[in-house]
Amino acid sequence: MFIRSEIVGFGRYLPNKVLTNDDLSHMVETNDEWIRTRTGICSRHIAEGETTSIMAGKAVASALKNAGMSPQDVDLLIVASVTPDLTTPSTATLVAGSLGFRAGVPAFDISAACSGFVYALTMADNMIRLGQVKTAVIVGAECLSKIVDWTDRNTCVLFGDGAGAAVLRAAEGKGDSTDTGVLSTCIFSDGSKTEFLKTTGGVSSTQNPGVVLMNGKEVFKHAVVSLAEAAETALERADIKKEQIDWLIPHQANVRIIDSVRERLNIAPEKVIISLDHHGNTSAASIPLALSENIESGRVKKGDLLVLTAMGAGFTWGGAVIRL
Ligand code: UT7
Repeated sequence: MFIRSEIVGFGRYLPNKVLTNDDLSHMVETNDEWIRTRTGICSRHIAEGETTSIMAGKAVASALKNAGMSPQDVDLLIVASVTPDLTTPSTATLVAGSLGFRAGVPAFDISAACSGFVYALTMADNMIRLGQVKTAVIVGAECLSKIVDWTDRNTCVLFGDGAGAAVLRAAEGKGDSTDTGVLSTCIFSDGSKTEFLKTTGGVSSTQNPGVVLMNGKEVFKHAVVSLAEAAETALERADIKKEQIDWLIPHQANVRIIDSVRERLNIAPEKVIISLDHHGNTSAASIPLALSENIESGRVKKGDLLVLTAMGAGFTWGGAVIRL
């Protein structure tokens, strides 16, 4: 028997406060036209009094509801985030506690920046296919507004807060590219590029989380190559041709990056999911937020073939192919 991880539920949570480009123009020297044309972002959500674990918990609860399951059904919880509530314990255990998961269920965090959701998907899929767990919940959740320098126009216009979750369930497959579920994953890193995107501090260095510092041009250049390569590797591993895919769901950082990746992959613009216009860059939450929203609207449907691709600080990058 070949075990596949089917995705049986999606959920999301966005804080109520919306910060528009015009709002930002009163905070730093910027304007709506610059942000829109250089990034594609129009607005983003900002958490007020809600921590990452609170947002993650709400996204997980909505994904479980969507799957018709309860917290008692879950065998594994992975939270992908770079903005944990506390240094320890993990955000995952805080979520497990608040939602009333069974004692004994493994729960842990993954720190892979904007690739976090793809990393979490890879871990959960591997554990399901090994037969270690049957039902896994993965969630990308970020409170980036807490590590943004609100006086730096180079970065503060880019990021937003939110959480997106998915429920994965073991199912029988044939082991070929006609299966439903996660057909392939791939994850990568290159630690020689840490300087291009990082925070100015951390627990063991400054005892302070610091703020985001980015060399935008370098990140942009590497993002285009890594996002395209990750998508291609995931497609190759799944034995799926580019022409077969229904949707490209890239990490939502900059619409110009997404356009370049799409061109490299030779994928039609109408097959690309964009949500950064109203979410901004939400790091690990960006792919599950985009997915959840487009599944709920009926645009992305059961049976559709998706290629996910992400890239972030580290650098880290990765991809996945999923038949819903
Ligand atoms: O999620 C992880 C991955 N992150 C990313 O993928 C982000 C990758 N990088 C980017 O998306 C782009 O590099 C940015 C959007 C960050 C910047 O776009 P850019 O086209 O690379 O602009 P730039 O940094 O070269 O700046 C161009 C000009 C500069 O002015 P001068 O030096 O030409 O006079 C900046 O000072 O735009 C100026 N500028 C701004 N102007 C108005 C930079 N930020 C702003 C701003 N408003 N917010």
